[in-house]
Amino acid sequence: MGETTRGGLLGICRDRGLAEEGRRRIEWAESQMPVLTGIRREWEQQVAKPLAGVRIAACLHVTTETANLMRTLVAGGATVALAASNPLSTQDDVAAALCEVYGIPTFAIRGEDRDSYYQHINRVLDLEPQITLDDGADLINVLHSQRRSLLPGVMGGAEETTTGVNRLRAMAAAGALAYPVVAVNDADTKHLFDNRYGTGQSTIDGILRATNLLLAGTTFVVAGYGWCGRGVASRARGMGANVIVTEVNPVRALEALMDGYRVMPLEEAARIGDIFVTVTANWHVIDAEHFAVMKDGAILANAGHFNVEINLEALAALAVRRRVVRDQVEEFELADGRRIRVLAEGRLVNLAAAEGHPAAVMDMSFANQALVSAWLASRPGLSPGVYAVPEAIDHEVARRKLHSMGVRIDTLRPEQEEYLRAFPAGT
Ligand code: ADE
Repeated sequence: MGETTRGGLLGICRDRGLAEEGRRRIEWAESQMPVLTGIRREWEQQVAKPLAGVRIAACLHVTTETANLMRTLVAGGATVALAASNPLSTQDDVAAALCEVYGIPTFAIRGEDRDSYYQHINRVLDLEPQITLDDGADLINVLHSQRRSLLPGVMGGAEETTTGVNRLRAMAAAGALAYPVVAVNDADTKHLFDNRYGTGQSTIDGILRATNLLLAGTTFVVAGYGWCGRGVASRARGMGANVIVTEVNPVRALEALMDGYRVMPLEEAARIGDIFVTVTANWHVIDAEHFAVMKDGAILANAGHFNVEINLEALAALAVRRRVVRDQVEEFELADGRRIRVLAEGRLVNLAAAEGHPAAVMDMSFANQALVSAWLASRPGLSPGVYAVPEAIDHEVARRKLHSMGVRIDTLRPEQEEYLRAFPAGT
């Protein structure tokens, strides 16, 4: 384990010797992130930096893409520190490179236990941040529960995920949120692409890397038809799986049906599914009554933020034997001989068993994070609450991404703008 000092803050990583490998992979991701890289280069050139002297504490998945966000914030003049937002998602070479090559204090070790996970969040908070960046709201939660003395110094935060935004809205409704937080997840250039195409592709990637299964011809159950569920279902269908969607929201269920999927209660799907993926942001979605009827060999994976969507305690209680049958695949044998296989300990399968979303999609999510950080820094004194990403930022990210892809679009002619503003005459 390596520990390094940078500007008074220590970084903790598994092995500093991995730094060169981390740098190579961070640079590869950079080559797929033209929007974020463009912002970084602009900020590097600017004399009046948008984040000059601003202290930013981040709790994000420690991946090559996140490393490029950290580099961008530093180019904007910020002092940053990073902790992992999940114990199993850290890429150890990236943590090493952040500390050793880029001089960014990073506290993350893949496979860290719960105590270390929270210690690392606390170490990042020792920076006494003015801005917080979260993926799942754990940092905000620690700040509001254990480190309240730091709250007056925080001007704002940003949150990356649906789960985190749900938690923040609950805090705001209870009057417990002490500062303004921007729901980056809800930007169009975030959830329409990252949640849908990012989660869609990387979840399949994680399942395949863990199992090497052939998806064609399998019955593939997707629990939850939000943007992530839509992405997973469409990519599973694209690989030839027979997809069933389960939902609690009638509109989403109807949408899934008209998108061409079978829709039924999980209780029924549990009997026929070969592979199950939870993407609900909810608790114990797959539970004891479902394990009771699953087929021998059923595979369970979670792509939601927290490892609570599959009731693993109930599964463990039912099991007469447990064994790891392959990296990231644990088999639970039940009293009647049926075997249920859980991927990546029920944690985010796309980050634990693969590399998370591809850089090209994180490009937009993290461009939003960078521009939102600058927006917050320019607006001290905002009231506490959950804020939308300003439309100007959302559109700027989309424009830059299109430009990077060499795609041009039309603009309205003045008379068309006028037509839209007027009450049209009709037929
Ligand atoms: N969330 C999902 N995929 C990610 C990635 N590649 N990097 C950071 N956060 C992520």
